Amino acid sequence: MHLVAPSLLAADFRRLDQAIALINDSEADWFHLDVMDGNFVPNISFGQFIIEQVARDAKKYCDVHLMIEQPERYIESFAKAGAQGITVHAEATKHLHRVVQQIKEAGCKAGVALNPHTPVNVLENLIEDLDLVLIMTVNPGFGGQKFIYQSIPKIRQAQELITIHNSPALIEVDGGIGLHNAQKVLEAGARVLVAGSSVFGAKDPAETIRQLKGIAGN
Ligand code: DX5
Ligand code: ZN
Repeated sequence: MHLVAPSLLAADFRRLDQAIALINDSEADWFHLDVMDGNFVPNISFGQFIIEQVARDAKKYCDVHLMIEQPERYIESFAKAGAQGITVHAEATKHLHRVVQQIKEAGCKAGVALNPHTPVNVLENLIEDLDLVLIMTVNPGFGGQKFIYQSIPKIRQAQELITIHNSPALIEVDGGIGLHNAQKVLEAGARVLVAGSSVFGAKDPAETIRQLKGIAGN
């Protein structure tokens, strides 16, 4: 069974309490929290302060996606803010292996995200240690972008790597995911669907979450 992780980035932040309650009361599995630093990606979103507020009310797993340069500077503080899983970008650090160990030492599940142009094989000597592989299906930085179709074979490659190395890692897909393509990514091997605008832009977000959960995977 796959998991659905609505991204709060697409929520109305004037009523963050309502967005949190909506996810809590829905069939969603995780909260997906997008941290952007205006350096690794062109946009700036939110940091530990907001995550701490969200985590206080969240009744579900907090999946923190760090789109920041040198994430090693902030792992402990995000863990302290309430992150349960922390995902860093392979492109954002010179010492990916070290950061992954740091995340685990902080008591969190460890994930690595790959930008659309980054090949899956950068994870070859690390995959056994990962709990999550995040395949970016848009260029990171903004919600509401169009899904990049070349991501489908990449999800399959990640699945192969995971199988060969007998890794426990789940494949998460992030960007442009909705009811129109969820089945395709699930068939390719995705296990966690991040969905921002397709959920919060829907007339009935809880119903969209329910439908995303109901899609038959592989
Ligand atoms: C993009 C973020 C995503 C984003 C997804 O850089 O990592 O999590 O919120 O938004 P949608 O689902 O609208 O593409
Ligand atoms: Zn994300």
